[in-house]
Amino acid sequence: MYPEQQTVLHSWCKQSEWSAPTIVGGAGAWLHTEDGRRILDMSSLAECSNLGHQHPHVIAAIRAQAQQLCFVTSAWGAKPRARLAEMLLEKSGFEGGRVFFTLAGADANENAVKFARQASGKPRGRIITRDRSYHGASYAAMALSGDTRTRHQVNPEAFGITHVPPPYAYRCPFGSTSAEECAERAVGAVTDAIDTHGDVSAVLMEPNAGTNGIVAPPDYWPLLRKRTREQGVYLIADEVMSGFGRCGEWFAWQRYGEAGRPDLMTLAKGLTGAHLPLGAVVLSAGVAQRLEHEMLYTGLTYCGHPLSCAAGIAALETYENENLIARSRALGAQLLEALRGLQARHAIIGDVRGGDGLFAVIELVSDRNTREPLSSWPDAHPALKQLVKSALDRNVSLAFRGNLILLAPPLVIQEEELQDAVSLLDALIGAMKLR
Ligand SMILES: Cc1ncc(COP(=O)(O)O)c(C=O)c1O
Repeated sequence: MYPEQQTVLHSWCKQSEWSAPTIVGGAGAWLHTEDGRRILDMSSLAECSNLGHQHPHVIAAIRAQAQQLCFVTSAWGAKPRARLAEMLLEKSGFEGGRVFFTLAGADANENAVKFARQASGKPRGRIITRDRSYHGASYAAMALSGDTRTRHQVNPEAFGITHVPPPYAYRCPFGSTSAEECAERAVGAVTDAIDTHGDVSAVLMEPNAGTNGIVAPPDYWPLLRKRTREQGVYLIADEVMSGFGRCGEWFAWQRYGEAGRPDLMTLAKGLTGAHLPLGAVVLSAGVAQRLEHEMLYTGLTYCGHPLSCAAGIAALETYENENLIARSRALGAQLLEALRGLQARHAIIGDVRGGDGLFAVIELVSDRNTREPLSSWPDAHPALKQLVKSALDRNVSLAFRGNLILLAPPLVIQEEELQDAVSLLDALIGAMKLR
């Protein structure tokens, strides 16, 4: 029995099924358990520990800030808050913009929606998001999300939110046969929704990686940007997961240069490499100017917490000093190639996608020709659950959702560690018993 098994209410699980070793430390891509095991973390926990565990530069920065000043509210200035905002505006090229700090990703998305509505002059303006998306688990974030797990808990219409089908090229909801066409049709659905509703303030979408396992085709984001601009609607990039090197760029939209630049973007996770909780909304100069003389009725007590901001500064310095963005791009390409090798050997792998950085998805099928899913979404086949358990028995932690294995290791993972994990996957997929 683990100590917290009977006392803590754990998230995203049945309490009766929660059973996990206690983690007491970590280093690089490894987690250390209380009973002396070392576990290779192939998901960066919740795709957030981009810098690996216990990065010494971030720890030192937190310690130094703690000794000086732990907390003041945003009614007062705080040096680390000012510096981190400056760094984020510089990395994103949002000159003249502003940064609003939050506690995490969900409240970053909620505030981005507030700002877009206020700046567009439509306090209750409609927001377009897509099915098979995840934007957080607070009520408004659940309404924004296209997530079958939480849909029954919330009515998106009550939050002024409309969902459109996703650019899921492998199973295109529009029946198209090429990734290009799927991208175009998916953007068309957004355009149509904007035309139909007429009161739209913003479109909020994940530009690349997401826990729902959809990686939009390359044409999708720049086309979405072009159309939303033509229609005079703000584009909000949810970079909570795709930011900070996960997709091979500081922010995934930067792959397209200016053609991909959103009006607002939301950040969390990699912002501190998950060493402390912190999220942010980055606003373009245009949006910021519209809010300049407006009263903002928003903010939580701990927004812009100096300790978290100090961790954020150190995290950004680490991405830079250790060249982790380029490293993720190079290792992501290697990972994708290795997974294509697995796909060639195992008929159960229907699709592999991602690889713009250290984020890749393996989609399992029961028939590669018909693309019959291994189990119906969002259920996971018992054989996949067994695979994940077998990997953990061999000290490798894997993330999975439905028929998907999500690979998102820390960007500091060593090449040999990555190769070992792929070899283990190769063996375990080969041994899968579907019954
Ligand atoms: C794309 C995306 N947006 C928002 C969130 C919510 O972030 P948080 O859990 O920090 O509230 C997540 C978390 O997984 C995410 O992946």
